[in-house]
Amino acid sequence: MSRLNGFPFPFTKDQYTYSNNSVPLDPAKTITVTADYKNELELIRKLLQKHHQRCFRSLPLSIESQWEIMLLLFNELASCNPESFTFQKMGGECLFQNHLLAEEEAFVFRDVSTIDLEPLDLVGRHVQEDLIIMGDRHDGLFLEAGQLCFPSNWSLAFVQGMEFKSIHNQVPGIQNDGFIDKVERFISKIQPGAVWERKNWSITVTNKLDTPLETYSVWGKHRQEVTCENAGDLIHLRVEVQRLFRLPMNHDVLFTIHTYLLQLNDLIQQESWLKSFYQNIKTLPEEIAEYKGISTYRTELLRFLENHMEKGRRGR
Ligand code: HEM
Repeated sequence: MSRLNGFPFPFTKDQYTYSNNSVPLDPAKTITVTADYKNELELIRKLLQKHHQRCFRSLPLSIESQWEIMLLLFNELASCNPESFTFQKMGGECLFQNHLLAEEEAFVFRDVSTIDLEPLDLVGRHVQEDLIIMGDRHDGLFLEAGQLCFPSNWSLAFVQGMEFKSIHNQVPGIQNDGFIDKVERFISKIQPGAVWERKNWSITVTNKLDTPLETYSVWGKHRQEVTCENAGDLIHLRVEVQRLFRLPMNHDVLFTIHTYLLQLNDLIQQESWLKSFYQNIKTLPEEIAEYKGISTYRTELLRFLENHMEKGRRGR
C-alpha cells in the first residue's frame, strides 16, 4: 500500500482528453525530493555516464539560464530539505552540500573555469527531475538545453533547437482548434516567481524509467507480452508531474519533469483508482491509445481490470 502514498494519480474525470490542465502551485516549488531519491540519482548518473549525448544537450546561448537554474535549484533543495542539503553563497563563491550523497560542489557563480560540467548538467545530478530550458525568443519558445534521462518515448537529440509547436507535431489532434498555439501563449504569459503544474500520463510495460525513443526496440517489444494474467505485474501507470517556471533574471522558461511509476497490482488496491483507471482506458480515443502505445494490449488490460472490479463487488 505504501507505493500509493504520494502517487500523483492523474485522472480527474472518467473520460480522458488532451487539455491544458496546468494549475498554479502554492508554494511555488519546481522540484520534489522523494523516498526514491538515492536510487533514481544512481540511475540518472549511470545514464549520463554511459549515454551523455543522449541525455544532455545544450546550445551555447543557454549558458546564462543554466547558471540561473543551478542557483535556483541548489537554493530550493536546501531551503525545502535543510536536513539533507545546504547551500551558501558569499558574493560569487558558492558551496552546495548534498548530505544524502555525502558530496559537495564548490564553484564561483558564472565562472565556467570552476566547474567540470555545464551548470545544468551539474545540478541535474542532484535532482530527480528531468530539466528542460525553453528559450523565450521574440518568435516563440525554443528547446535550448536539456538534461533528460527518463523520456517517455521521445528524443532530446531530435527536438534540440525546435520550436514548441513543432515539438508537439506527433501528438494526435493537438493542432486542432489552435490548441497548441493557445498553450504556447499561456506559457509565454507566465510571470516570474509563479510555478504552474500539470500531469501527463502513459503506461510502461515493466518498471523502466528510461524509455527514450533511441532504445525503443529494447523496451517497446514488451508491449506484445501483456496478457490478462500478467497485466498486474507488467503494467505500470507512468505519471509525469511537469512544472513550468519563468526565470526572473533571464526570462527563459524552466520545464521540470518528475516521473512516477505505479505497478498495476498496487493501483488496484485503491478501489476508486481502479474504477477511474478502467473508465479512462475503456473510453480513450483510439488515436490517443495508439500514440501512447496502449492499443496492442488494451483488450487484455480491460479484462484484467474488469476481473478485479468483479472480485471487489463479490467481496462486498
Ligand atoms: C514547455 C515545455 C514543454 C515541452 C518541452 C514539451 C515537450 C513535449 C514532448 C517532447 C512531447 C512528446 C512528443 C512526441 O511524442 O514526439 C510532448 C507531448 C505532449 N505535450 Fe508537451 N511539452 C511542454 C509543455 C506542454 C504543456 C504546457 C502542455 C499542455 C497541454 C503539453 C501538452 C502535451 C501533450 C498533450 C502531449 C502528448 C502526451 C501523451 O499523450 O503522452 N506540453 N510534449
